[in-house]
Amino acid sequence: GLPTKARIVEVGPRDGLQNESGPVIATAIKVQLINRLADAGINHIEAASFVSPKWVPQMGDAAEVMAGITRKAGVTYAALTPNLRGAEGAIVARADEVAIFSAASESFTQKNINCSIAESLERFVPVIEAAKKNNIRIRGYVSTVLGCPYEGEIDPAQVAAVARELLDMGCYEISLGDTIGVGTPVKARKMLARVAHEVPVKQLAAHFHDTYGQALANLYAVMQDGVSVIDTSIAGLGGCPYAKGASGNVATEDVVYMLNGLGIETDIDLEKLVPVGNWITQQIGRSNGSKVGLALGCE
Ligand code: HMG
Ligand code: MG
Repeated sequence: GLPTKARIVEVGPRDGLQNESGPVIATAIKVQLINRLADAGINHIEAASFVSPKWVPQMGDAAEVMAGITRKAGVTYAALTPNLRGAEGAIVARADEVAIFSAASESFTQKNINCSIAESLERFVPVIEAAKKNNIRIRGYVSTVLGCPYEGEIDPAQVAAVARELLDMGCYEISLGDTIGVGTPVKARKMLARVAHEVPVKQLAAHFHDTYGQALANLYAVMQDGVSVIDTSIAGLGGCPYAKGASGNVATEDVVYMLNGLGIETDIDLEKLVPVGNWITQQIGRSNGSKVGLALGCE
C-alpha cells in the first residue's frame, strides 16, 4: 500500500540548473534558491555538483554555492561527486552527503562520465573511503533505469546489479533514475520489483524525469510497492546534458500537491514553495514546468 510519509529530495539546484545553456547563473541566485527551498520545508537538497566545469559549466561555482547558503538545522545539503577530486571538494565545502552516480547503460556512462560502468564503480571506492572518514553519508544513483537514449530498452536485471553494487559499496540509499523520462507505470513497477530482489525497497528512491509526462503516474505506481523517497525539481527545472531532449525531473510542486491529496505527509509548505518556482523561472528566463505552480499563480 501507499506510504503514510514521504521524503522529498529536491534536486533542482543541481539536476535542474546543471543543464541551463547560456550564461552561468549567478551564485547568489543559486544560494537564494537553496535557502528558499529549505524555508518552504524541504529538508533534503542536492545543492551542487563537484564535477568538471569543462563538462558542466553551470556547476563550476559549487564551492561558492555551498559556502554561501545559510544552513538550516535538520536540512541535508548534498553534493554530486564523480571522483575523488569532487569528493574532496564536497568535504571541504562541508556537504552533509555526497552522491555518486553510475548507470545501467554502458553507452550512457561513457557519454556522461567518460568511463565504463565498472570503471565508474572503481572510481567511487576512494570517494566512499573519503566520505566515510568524514562521517558523510553516501547516496547512489543509477541512471537510465527505464530506458537509455543510446541503447533503448534496459534490462531490469542490469539496473538491479548496479544498484546492488552501490549498496554493497556503502550507499545508504539508491536513487533510480529514469533519466529521459520514457517509463510507464507497469514498466516502472516491474523494474522496481526486480531491483527490490537486491536492495530493500526502503533503501530505494525514485528519480523520474518527466519528458513524456509520465512521472507522476510512475511515482504513484512505485509508491504502491513501498517507495517513499522521491527526487523532484522545483518548477520541473532541468534536463540532462548527455540525454538530448530530456526534460527536468518531475516538479516538486506537482508531487507535493499529489501527496497532499493522498494524505501522505511531507512537512513541505506548498504555499511557500509555489512562489519559489515562479521566482526561479523568472530569474533564468524559463517557463514554469510545474502545472501546480502555474495553477496556484505568480508572485
Ligand atoms: P575526463 O575528461 O574523463 O577526466 O572527465 P579528466 O580526469 O581528464 O578530467 C577532465 C578535466 O576536468 C581535467 O582538467 C580535470 O582536472 C578536471 P584539465 O586537466 O583538462 O584542466 N576535473 C575536475 N574538475 C573539477 N572537479 C572535479 C574534476 N574531475 C576532473 N571533480 C569526469 C571525467 C568524471 C571528471 C567528467 O566526465 C565529469 O565531470 N562529468 C560530469 C558529468 C555530469 O555532471 N553529468 C550530469 C550529472 S549525472 C545526472 O544528471 C543523472 C542523475 O540526475 C540521475 C538521472 O537522472 O538518471 C544523477
Ligand atoms: Mg537526473
